[in-house]
Amino acid sequence: TYVVADNCIKCKYMDCVEVCPVDCFYEGENTLVIHPDECIDCGVCEPECPAEAILPDTDPEAENWLAMNTKYAEIWPNITVQGTPPSDADEFNGVKGKYAKFFN
Ligand code: SF4
Ligand code: F3S
Repeated sequence: TYVVADNCIKCKYMDCVEVCPVDCFYEGENTLVIHPDECIDCGVCEPECPAEAILPDTDPEAENWLAMNTKYAEIWPNITVQGTPPSDADEFNGVKGKYAKFFN
């Protein structure tokens, strides 16, 4: 599977949802997650994310995000169409430790 990691938080550009062939993104207030059981590992979302927030589970960083993606994919609603990103998304692109600071 692929996972959404820290840098999506408060950026939430949503380019990823437009390209996913199986519509396996789920939407929270500040971030999206991928449902690990639905993702078919196609990889097309990874280069589409302007925040480089999507990682394959082979990435050492992904381990930290898999449980979080799994948990919230079961709770949050499915998203299949790109909405409007936050107006201050670019200001948060690259800010470290957003999960600890801003996650709801
Ligand atoms: Fe969707 Fe493919 Fe990304 Fe998985 S890797 S979330 S199937 S676009
Ligand atoms: Fe987040 Fe990147 Fe998608 S910022 S919403 S993972 S395009």
